[in-house]
Amino acid sequence: MRTILTTGGAGFIGSNLVHHLLGLPEALKVVNLDALTYAGSLENLADLPDPARHLFVEGSINDRDLVVRLLEEHEIRTVIHLAAESHVDRSILGPGQFIETNLVGTFTLLEACRAVWAPEGTFPENVRFHHVSTDEVYGTLGPDDPAFQETTPYAPNSPYAASKAGSDHLVRAYTETYGLPTSLTNCSNNYGPYQFPEKLIPVIILNSLQGKPLPIYGDGLQVRDWLHVTDHCEAIWRVVEEGAPGSTYNVGGKAEVANIDLVRRICAILDEKVPDSPHAPHQQLITFVKDRPGHDRRYAMNIEKIEAELGWAPRESLDTGLEKTVQWYLDHTDWLRAIHTAPEFQQWMDENYQDRK
Ligand code: NAD
Ligand code: TYD
Repeated sequence: MRTILTTGGAGFIGSNLVHHLLGLPEALKVVNLDALTYAGSLENLADLPDPARHLFVEGSINDRDLVVRLLEEHEIRTVIHLAAESHVDRSILGPGQFIETNLVGTFTLLEACRAVWAPEGTFPENVRFHHVSTDEVYGTLGPDDPAFQETTPYAPNSPYAASKAGSDHLVRAYTETYGLPTSLTNCSNNYGPYQFPEKLIPVIILNSLQGKPLPIYGDGLQVRDWLHVTDHCEAIWRVVEEGAPGSTYNVGGKAEVANIDLVRRICAILDEKVPDSPHAPHQQLITFVKDRPGHDRRYAMNIEKIEAELGWAPRESLDTGLEKTVQWYLDHTDWLRAIHTAPEFQQWMDENYQDRK
């Protein structure tokens, strides 16, 4: 049975990807390495399609010996690397951990792969290191600029984006220098089930349900291109399987929207789904707060390459995806409660939002 090593598979996208991989017809096995930081939870993996084909390993990508052992013991030929510190606001308050995990962690993983897959210096053709990255490496766009292409020069603006850009460059260097068969996806903002409620969409749903202010940074006119996480998982697997070694692909939802309009849409969905809520109409909770420093104004992805070469396109529109996502959170209030009542989460909310008043 073919075994895939995922890193960060207890986080938002990673857990969705593990669900996706185990649901594929080809009966893959998944070894899932995750350090269970604040962002990772075994709750995200509680209802896997075939848990017998999933092995969870609690540990860090920064632990080279552990990674080497997993690659050897399970005869792994495919690594899908998602483990990261992923939240821009946290990277502004404390960038050090982002360098450690995103940059040094990726380097450590690459070195472990090199040691196991190419002990004599040459990589076999049947291995693949896939790196999951972000559109934020490209920086920011003006309102009329064309969308980011794979050839757009990197210009990261936050410590998070810079650490991801650095990790992308390392992956590229391992391809060019050592011949490691890699692939890379740069994806726009994701949303969907199991997203930790520090990111915009779950923050808005969680706060709406509790009747708390819905914090909009700055004027709320920053634009993001939203992709449903199941579409992202399909794109990742398509690139792993069909993307040429050394290739990179932009992935996005063709769903650009300003933050304030997105929040209004979520409020309207909630008004419809929970009409007798004491907090409806939920738009009344919208509160403009102090902006994020270095806040990127607009992201947009040109996805023509992956569409043309691999025939991938997003299936969910923003309307269908948002409706499903709000419903998922309404159906999983136990999951939400387990996270947002944790003391570390409360402490983060206080820290992030206290200066924004
Ligand atoms: P997340 O924060 O929800 O999850 C990250 C996971 O990585 C957690 O389970 C955490 O425990 C784990 N982790 C952190 N440090 C680790 C370490 N040293 N060793 C092992 N595991 C560790 O993140 P996410 O939103 O699911 O993002 C996953 C990946 O996708 C990241 O690389 C991120 O940069 C990228 N990405 C995210 C988005 C998005 O919108 N969320 C968009 C594009 C790309
Ligand atoms: P976020 O979900 O943190 O993703 P990213 O910073 O990677 O794009 O934020 C999405 C957008 O929403 C971003 O422009 C910042 C904004 N935002 C708010 O206005 N309020 C909030 O409480 C949060 C978390 C984000």
